[in-house]
Amino acid sequence: MKRVSFAEFGGPDVLHLVDAEEPHAGPGRIRIAVRAAGVNAVDWRIREGQFQQVHPVELPAGVGQDAAGVVDEVGEGVEGVAVGDHVFGDGSSTYAEFAVLSAWARMPEGLTFEEAAGYPSVVETALRIIDQVGVAPGQTLLVSGASGGVGSAVLQIARDRGVAVIGTGGAANQDYLRSLGAVATTYGEGWVERVRQSGRVDAALDLAGSGVIRELVELVGDPQRVVSIADIGASEFGVRFSGVAGSMPEALAEAADLISRGKLHIPIEKSYSLAEAAAAHIDSRAGHTRGRRVMVI
Ligand SMILES: NC(=O)c1ccc[n+]([C@@H]2O[C@H](COP(=O)([O-])OP(=O)(O)OC[C@H]3O[C@@H](n4cnc5c(N)ncnc54)[C@H](OP(=O)(O)O)[C@@H]3O)[C@@H](O)[C@H]2O)c1
Repeated sequence: MKRVSFAEFGGPDVLHLVDAEEPHAGPGRIRIAVRAAGVNAVDWRIREGQFQQVHPVELPAGVGQDAAGVVDEVGEGVEGVAVGDHVFGDGSSTYAEFAVLSAWARMPEGLTFEEAAGYPSVVETALRIIDQVGVAPGQTLLVSGASGGVGSAVLQIARDRGVAVIGTGGAANQDYLRSLGAVATTYGEGWVERVRQSGRVDAALDLAGSGVIRELVELVGDPQRVVSIADIGASEFGVRFSGVAGSMPEALAEAADLISRGKLHIPIEKSYSLAEAAAAHIDSRAGHTRGRRVMVI
């Protein structure tokens, strides 16, 4: 089979589309014929070697964790899923023709593989940080960097829970943020004052890592009501950095429910073939995705 692989850490040019042994579903796992794989910032961070100290990767390594496809092997002990089912979920080396998943859910009716592949990681992250920041119905959540993958999920899930949201994004994404139910404002010069004019803020999430933790704490008035997923210096201000993933099976079930109820939809900014993996990483790294980027196999 074909898969995207890298044999040394480095820039996007270390990615190659190669022939590889097919993986197989061990106990508790399934294998899918991958139709689409989500592109996440963690994919290029791993490729650059940023996580070698914490989660060492053995080379050569595959790329990708989110995927959607057709089940073609069911491992020992797995129940409730059969060959031929359409699923989306989380696994390893998903930029490939076949991949093994460790968590999955049946795809909601009407969803394309391309759309489905965009949900797993961002919904898991959104659910985790909304829970950690402890915002309640009737309160207001400020989201810095709200128009990307995680932000799109956070805004819609928070709205579904009766939480008001203020989102910051680029000028081109203001209407998009409003379409997700947020009060929208641009980041950059004067953003703190613009947010203040929008009213009281009870909690805040930093999704862009753009060096705004101090300002978020000032706006909320309590560092314990601020969470960052992108600024490892957040703890200097008494703010929690959320980096450990929560339960993916629960997140997938909740994603399927929200999508089926019409409460969650994340658009695809752009699709790429496996041969275009380097371009996908360059675009993702630029940090201005509206919704999601996906590989289509
Ligand atoms: N710790 C964890 O568990 C975890 C999990 C998932 C992701 N992450 C990290 O979280 C970050 C966001 O992930 P993502 O998938 O949502 O990324 P993404 O899809 O690339 O979105 C990033 C968003 O940030 C916005 N942005 C860019 N510069 C900004 C600025 N100066 N101020 C405010 N917003 C700005 C962009 O808005 P415009 O396009 O409108 O400019 C873009 O929509 C990444 O760094 C990723 O590595 C961490």
